[in-house]
Amino acid sequence: MSHARTPAVATIDGPSGSGKGTISRLIARRIGWHLLDSGALYRLVALAGVRSGTAPDDQERHARIALGMRVVFGWGPDGGEQVCLEGEDVTAAIRSETAGQGASRVAAWPQVRAALLERQRGFAAPPGLVADGRDMGTVVFPGAALKIFLTATPEERALRRHKQLKDKGSDVSLPALSRGIAERDLRDRTREVAPLRPASDACVIDSTAITVEQVVGQVLEMGAARRLWQL
Ligand code: DC
Repeated sequence: MSHARTPAVATIDGPSGSGKGTISRLIARRIGWHLLDSGALYRLVALAGVRSGTAPDDQERHARIALGMRVVFGWGPDGGEQVCLEGEDVTAAIRSETAGQGASRVAAWPQVRAALLERQRGFAAPPGLVADGRDMGTVVFPGAALKIFLTATPEERALRRHKQLKDKGSDVSLPALSRGIAERDLRDRTREVAPLRPASDACVIDSTAITVEQVVGQVLEMGAARRLWQL
């Protein structure tokens, strides 16, 4: 089977707070590729579930939501990223810790993951896609030309998340955040379907002690070495 016409994909997976989101965005912008923020899709399913009064443990209805929800990733009037759900701007709502916890819960359900599979693959388009998530390299795009698995110590990830939330004006205590991250890590790594783990052919980058620019530099060099883009 020829994959000559399949758009190139670079996957960036890793636990929450590893810097995936920041790195993926910077790389996509730098090389002019599309971006898939797959975590946002799980957050949207959780939020849409709450908003429609769906019982928190109703897997089947959440899967139906995942299939049918109308989502638009675009740009807001201020030029920043905007995510709309059924025509409503939910950019801030999906970034809360509550939405993150809800996302981690619905993400453990096989029916929800199956429902989001084709939607995620639909983001692959020329000139290429940077896909950010937990199972981009293992399940959604197993044939990706470049697979990165980004890690950092749990302490560093909690600090980063704390700063991110504080910058957005939300006041979450660091110990509470650390507990939340540990819980989410455990659930994401131990779930039966598509658990968080590096693909066998992924390049692992530990970002604990290096800057964002250094990580971006390393990934850009790896892609250039594979002739995915030019520097
Ligand atoms: O990356 P994030 O924090 O926005 O992701 C929110 C949750 O969604 C995360 O706890 C696990 C889940 N998720 C997933 O299971 N698979 C993905 N590809 C992306 C996110």
